[in-house]
Order: sequence, then C-alpha cells, then structure tokens
Amino acid sequence: MTTHTLFPTLVHSARLRHSGWRQLNDRLLRECQQLRLDDEAGRRWSAKNYPGGFTSYNSASRMHQLSPTFANLERKLNRHVAAFARALEFDLAGRALAMTDCWVNIMPRQVVHGLHLHPLSTISGTYYVRTPKGSPGLKFEDPRLERFMAAPPRVATARAQNRPWIVLPAEAGNVVLFESWLRHEVPPNPVAAERVSISFNYNWF
Ligand code: NI
Repeated sequence: MTTHTLFPTLVHSARLRHSGWRQLNDRLLRECQQLRLDDEAGRRWSAKNYPGGFTSYNSASRMHQLSPTFANLERKLNRHVAAFARALEFDLAGRALAMTDCWVNIMPRQVVHGLHLHPLSTISGTYYVRTPKGSPGLKFEDPRLERFMAAPPRVATARAQNRPWIVLPAEAGNVVLFESWLRHEVPPNPVAAERVSISFNYNWF
C-alpha cells in the first residue's frame, strides 16, 4: 500500500549567503531607518494601513531600483528565486522571472500584519534584516483551509505537512520564498525592539 503526498505547497527557507551578510544587513538597516525618516507619504499611508509600524509598500515599493544596497540584495535573491523555481519545476522558457517590487517593513511592539496574499505576482518573499529575540515569525495558512468545514481536527503532534498553520521563525540573514497565492501573516510583535524586514515580489513577464 502507498500513501501519496500530492499537490504539495513549497516554501523555500535559507540563509541569503554564508558570509558577509552582517555587513549587508548593517547597511540595509541604516537605509530602512533613513527611508522611514524621508518617506513622508509612506508614513502617512502606514498610519492608516499599518498602525504603529512603517511600510514603504505604497510609496517606495521599488527599492531595488533606487538603492545600490537593495540592488545588491536583489542579485543575491535572484539565485534563491531561480533555485525555488527549479524546485517548483516551473517551465520559464521565453520569459524572465524578475523582481518587480521590493519594500521595507518596520514593526515596533504590537504591530501586526494580518492574513494576505500578494496578487499579480508569481513568487513573493521576505528577507530578514533585524529580528530581535522574541519577535514573530511568518505564519502560513493551508491554501485548502476553506474546504475543511467537515474535516476532523489534527492531532497535536501532527507533522508540519499536515498542520493547517505553520509559523516559520524569522531570523536575520534568512530569506523565505513562497508562491504569491499562499496566504500568510505576521502575528503581533510582543517585544519592544523593532523587527525589520524587506519584502518583494517576482513576476513572470
Ligand atoms: Ni506578505
């Protein structure tokens, strides 16, 4: 007898690189904090849509085209995205899978980023710049959840692949990639120190 695992949901989680990431993160952190000072439109948008935090999602969303430091990050991310696309067995012939959006997220205490998708994109992800001890990870939801109305609950010891939600810890220097349709959230930050991350979308042109 065989029990098949069909239609898996793949999530890529890896160190961006093994050496030199601390220097890169120091520069990225300075630029993220400077952007918060400079980006008045972003602060206004965040006050309405990301209470207590700062995101440049609606104001400076192409940081890879504005900053050489972010462009450097993009080059390193490209290799991870290519590896993830291979794991997904995408046939990308004839068109490029390229970064379209790249923005900054700063989460002080109590800030939350509720469940969402990344529409109009192919692969999305986050790179962690600063993750204070105790700050939240990235929570993924089983994309079939709305079909589970009559399904029994899972045992407390269920394997990761059989759980309806999974939280991947956030760790500075790590990159997480997922297909853009996969719903996810960042639970509230319970610690005083700010959690800083850079999110991005790749699109298949
Ligand atoms: Ni997201």
